[in-house]
Amino acid sequence: LRHFLTIEDLPCEILTEILDTAESFVSMGEQSVKKVPLLRGKTVMNLFFENSTRTRATFELAAKRLSADVLNLDIKTSSTAKGETLMDTLQNLEAMHADAFVVRHSESGAAHFIASQITPDVAIINAGDGRHAHPTQAMLDMFTIRRHKGAFEGLKVAIVGDILHSRVARSQIQALNTLGAAAVRVVAPKTLLPRDIEALGVEVYTRMEEGLKDVDVVIMLRLQRERMHGALLPSEGEYYRLYGLTQEKLTYARPDVIVMHPGPINRGVEIESAVADGPRSVILQQVSYGIATRMAVLSMATGGQAQQRELSQSMQQ
Ligand code: CP
Repeated sequence: LRHFLTIEDLPCEILTEILDTAESFVSMGEQSVKKVPLLRGKTVMNLFFENSTRTRATFELAAKRLSADVLNLDIKTSSTAKGETLMDTLQNLEAMHADAFVVRHSESGAAHFIASQITPDVAIINAGDGRHAHPTQAMLDMFTIRRHKGAFEGLKVAIVGDILHSRVARSQIQALNTLGAAAVRVVAPKTLLPRDIEALGVEVYTRMEEGLKDVDVVIMLRLQRERMHGALLPSEGEYYRLYGLTQEKLTYARPDVIVMHPGPINRGVEIESAVADGPRSVILQQVSYGIATRMAVLSMATGGQAQQRELSQSMQQ
């Protein structure tokens, strides 16, 4: 792994290696991941050009637990406000000897563009670009599913809500199909489905009762109004009535279903509080597993994992 820009085209072996590497960090302690020296002497720069709570905080924690030096550039108070271009900003940061840029941007393709312009010595990790991809979110979601369900074979997963504007849904669909889930369903009103939805390898449903029937995993998405740009929307009340996940609608799924959400959640819009905070919800576990999963991606992309393997092998000789 060098850059981590998208799940698309990554083979099952790489995705499994990320999950196994993340597992090695979590198994050091179920709740908290201990500090390891894998990235000592390396510098990780978090460049968030769009708002974030979970992704930014867990990338910072992940880099610190790997013993890297971490810089969080505050874009709002940076010299981009004085007219400096994105590329000039990045070249200046590169001159400070960064080993990885973790990039979030509102434009689809921003991370790919940066990867094509910057020296290959700097690993580019996509922390969400427009409506295109959010690969580390998808991997922490896969990690959560594997921890609860053991394997992907035979699993039926429903992704519900604003699929059209969701980078998370695209990355999740790619990861679930590559890892061998039995069925990946999307459940949404037609107006919130992309035109190419069938080509993504999913089963399409517009009614919750049918889409949730006998599923093992339900992933809820919020309405991503910041990317809608005047699209025709149902009222929140109407949307909640038809697509909001309530305890009643959850009974369509298997009794051992897990409920997931990448966050931020909008209570009473796409999910009822009794479900979000209820016994089938693993929403906060997803956040916790984000640390170990992002540690795995950072260490694989910056060579820390290779060093670990060499060290283990030399100790065995
Ligand atoms: N899931 C997610 O990307 O959350 P943040 O926007 O808070 O990082």
